[in-house]
Order: sequence, then C-alpha cells, then structure tokens
Amino acid sequence: MEPKGRVICLVGYMGSGKSSVGKKLADRLGYAFEDTDELIVAKDGRSIPDIFRQEGEPFFRELEHALLKSLVTRKDSGMVLATGGGIVMDVRNRPLLKELGTVVYLRADAKALYDRVRGDEGRPLLNVEDRLKTMRDMLTVRGPVYEECADIIIDTDGLTPDETVDAVLGRLGM
Ligand code: S3P
Repeated sequence: MEPKGRVICLVGYMGSGKSSVGKKLADRLGYAFEDTDELIVAKDGRSIPDIFRQEGEPFFRELEHALLKSLVTRKDSGMVLATGGGIVMDVRNRPLLKELGTVVYLRADAKALYDRVRGDEGRPLLNVEDRLKTMRDMLTVRGPVYEECADIIIDTDGLTPDETVDAVLGRLGM
C-alpha cells in the first residue's frame, strides 16, 4: 500500500521492537523519531514505573492520550512514532493513530515477546508472578485490537530489527 501521510505509527505488545525498529526506520527515511513513553517521561519528570506506582494506570493512560492528541499537530512532518503497548486499548486513541498516518503492527508470538523482555523490570504490567501467562492472556485480548487498528501487519518472528525495517519499507513501497 501507499503510505498514508508522513507519519508511521508503530503499535504492538511490549517487546515487539517498536523503539529499536522505529529508530532504524526513522534513520532510513530521514524522519524524526518519537516514542510516546519517552515523551511522557520527559514531560512528567518521573519514570513509567514511578507514574504507575504513585498515580496508577488510569492516570498514565490520560497522560498517554493527551500526548497522542498533541502529536496530531505534527502529522505533516516526517515522523516515526513508537507507541506504548497499551495505547490502542483506549478507544479515543484509535482514530488519532489513523489521523496521524500509517499504522504498522509489529506482531510476534507471546513466547518470542517473553524472551525479548526477559530481565526487564521497567514494565509495571509485567511485574507479576507468572509473566508468560500474563503476556499470553493480554495478547489474547490485545492481539485482535492491534490487528484492527493496523494498516499493515509485519510478522517479526525470526526477523532482525533491520529485516523488520526492510519489511515495513517494502510493504509501503518506500
Ligand atoms: C504498556 C507498555 C509500555 C508502557 C507501559 C504500559 C502496556 O510501553 O507504555 O508500561 O500497557 O503495554 P512499551 O510497549 O514501549 O514497553
């Protein structure tokens, strides 16, 4: 498909490579790279785990929504936007992602995602007893939503970040 506008939004579960792939993709296109989590942290002054711990998830979701809304003003500039894994679960965010540009879902199975976030304590929703089960359960709910939001879906299992970038660019004819 032709890219829709000048923004590429990467969506997908934690560990799907949105940030690492996004940076490389932005470099290849000469676009700016932004990451919703990083922008939230820069603005709030606290880490994501601290925001979750001190304020709770609903407060974080409001920050995330307000930030996404503010980014729409930048939709005409070239940008790759890596989004937090839960962004699609707020229904208000779905039309905003579409308005920004092309939505790309970096899909991977639960076990591959689990291996990629191994040892990472920076994700509050994954600080649970049975992490793999939690990830499987969340993916069952979120997977169809990512798919519904996406203009294109890239199956990243077995792909390096560079190969994933090639796949995105190939699908968009860029
Ligand atoms: C979340 C994903 C995280 C971060 C927060 C919540 C989620 O971002 O926004 O911890 O609900 O999936 P990454 O997907 O970049 O890890």
